[in-house]
Amino acid sequence: MDFTGKNVLITGASRGIGKATAMAFAKKGAKVGINYRSNDEDAQKTLAALPGDGHQLFKRDISQKIETKALINDFVKEFGQLDVLVNNAGISIFHEIDQVDFDHWTNAWKKTFETNLFAVANLCYWSAKAMMKTGGGHIVSVSSRGAFRGEPTKPAYGASKAALNSMSQSLAKKLAPHHIYVGVVAPGFTETEMAKETLTPAERENLLRESPFKRMAQPEEVAHAILFLASSEAAYSSGTIIDVNGASYLR
Ligand SMILES: NC(=O)c1ccc[n+]([C@@H]2O[C@H](COP(=O)([O-])OP(=O)(O)OC[C@H]3O[C@@H](n4cnc5c(N)ncnc54)[C@H](OP(=O)(O)O)[C@@H]3O)[C@@H](O)[C@H]2O)c1
Repeated sequence: MDFTGKNVLITGASRGIGKATAMAFAKKGAKVGINYRSNDEDAQKTLAALPGDGHQLFKRDISQKIETKALINDFVKEFGQLDVLVNNAGISIFHEIDQVDFDHWTNAWKKTFETNLFAVANLCYWSAKAMMKTGGGHIVSVSSRGAFRGEPTKPAYGASKAALNSMSQSLAKKLAPHHIYVGVVAPGFTETEMAKETLTPAERENLLRESPFKRMAQPEEVAHAILFLASSEAAYSSGTIIDVNGASYLR
């Protein structure tokens, strides 16, 4: 896979899976736009770590609809055109139905959907408009194993990712005549900085038991699947959802 001369925008790329994806694209010759929300320090570190030239930071809160239009406009202004959009940014909020009050419950649904679904829908809207003008492109979104197996402690998260899958497949059909290819990668638990910092030893042990490989995914393994779906070789794989969960959940 070669991305020389390609312009790639990745949401939530200051750390975790987004950062690994930015590194992987940059190593294959792409010019990368790193979107993030607030953590300037992480974003600067990621930018400095990327091989190659011309990469840029794009600080925008994509949960705000006005910011999604601005993000794509800024990117096209700076880079000339958008070849690949990776919808990676996502949030998850604990809100167990038998434990939280109604305000917490409704707030969790609102906030989760604003970032994990509405932001992606809005970015797809503006990206598709930009890509149609330049003859096509690729959109790859990061979903989750939770879309299929359920998320009892974070039901809005599972639902948002299931909706993301469905939306992506609808767009794969609708955008095919415009040479815009739409794919999804659905990781299981992935060993990001956040996971390393926040998991207790007992939680970690439980997670390791979920896969017959007895380990979590590495962010680079998720990035690899994203690059595949963003490659010209994967055009006919449009509409696909690739599981990267170490056979921990087979559907
Ligand atoms: N890690 C896992 O185990 C796992 C498993 C399955 C699926 N996933 C999915 O993979 C994706 C990445 O997960 P991760 O664990 O790598 O995430 P992470 O380490 O928590 O990083 C999240 C990134 O998204 C950015 N972000 C969050 N909200 C944003 C917003 N409103 N606007 C712009 N940027 C925003 C953050 O920027 P700031 O830091 O500046 O806020 C950060 O760069 C998510 O969609 C997640 O649901 C993760």
